[in-house]
Amino acid sequence: MQRHPGSLLKELDLDKKELLALLELAGELKRATAEGTEKPQLTGRNLALIFEKASTRTLCAFEVAAYDQGAHITYLGPSGSHIGVAESIADTARVLGRMFDGIEFRGFDQAAAEQLADYAGVPVWNGLTTQWHPTQMLADILTMTEHSSGPLEDVSYCFLGDGRNNVARSLLITGAILGMDVRIGAPRELWPPQDVIDTAHTLAAESGARVLITDDPAKAVAGSDFLYTDVWVSMGESDADWAVRVPLLLPFRVTTDLMAASGRTGTKFMHCLPALHDTDTELGRRLHDQFGLDGAEVSNDVFESEASIVFDQAENRLHTIKAVLVNALGQGR
Ligand code: CP
Repeated sequence: MQRHPGSLLKELDLDKKELLALLELAGELKRATAEGTEKPQLTGRNLALIFEKASTRTLCAFEVAAYDQGAHITYLGPSGSHIGVAESIADTARVLGRMFDGIEFRGFDQAAAEQLADYAGVPVWNGLTTQWHPTQMLADILTMTEHSSGPLEDVSYCFLGDGRNNVARSLLITGAILGMDVRIGAPRELWPPQDVIDTAHTLAAESGARVLITDDPAKAVAGSDFLYTDVWVSMGESDADWAVRVPLLLPFRVTTDLMAASGRTGTKFMHCLPALHDTDTELGRRLHDQFGLDGAEVSNDVFESEASIVFDQAENRLHTIKAVLVNALGQGR
């Protein structure tokens, strides 16, 4: 079956024009929400939300966006359905495609998201896989736009941490598509896969993007408008990975010193969340007991500083996911 054109499985599915159009639509929807003039364009639509992994922001953003726009949702969690246990992804897709107008999928394997789209006949939206996190990118770029005065092409951002993870890969590809200045600061063993780096360079040659992958944190952040980090051990990875990652990633921890090393007074801090920035969580306390850390990928003073725009990012998950839904299924589109 042909994939629905309203699907969003990875950033590479979109060109610059399509990405910018989604961002513009998100901005319009955000303004309409603020002004109380939002017009439901998804009345009577039914959406399935599949979550094989935990979520706060993505789940809530899809639910609230659907409700605001007049759609109904059905939540299929990690247990309680047959998905992947007694029923294949292809069969699940053909069943859900007969009942629902669109399907969100958060899971482990990108191939599962792609297969859902191949068989469902309705739009499929990737709410995070191990490889890509495209709806996060829309929120991140919208947030950068809101905190920048010049054109997007002049914006420089730097991801610090595990460069192999979904957010790092997605940031690299998104910046390369949009013609931005995108850097990854990570130890060599945690650099993005070579094929992703190669793709970023190919895209950059077309878009004018500047791409830098480096194991030198000071070089990575020099001149950056936005420093971005993510949890050092991702969902689905082993707890034992912390013992390897902590010593590797400590030089890339976002502290006031690293923020200052950007050399800019207005550098902002970004994080897709959830963040380990203190000992107020079970995991935070465990890392404190095991490694003496008070927070991991970002220090608490940076997280709580005026430079931190993490909750703007979180809010923008809603407006950008709403744009994805309206773009795919909105009446009159
Ligand atoms: N950033 C993000 O995807 O958040 P959740 O895991 O809470 O959905």
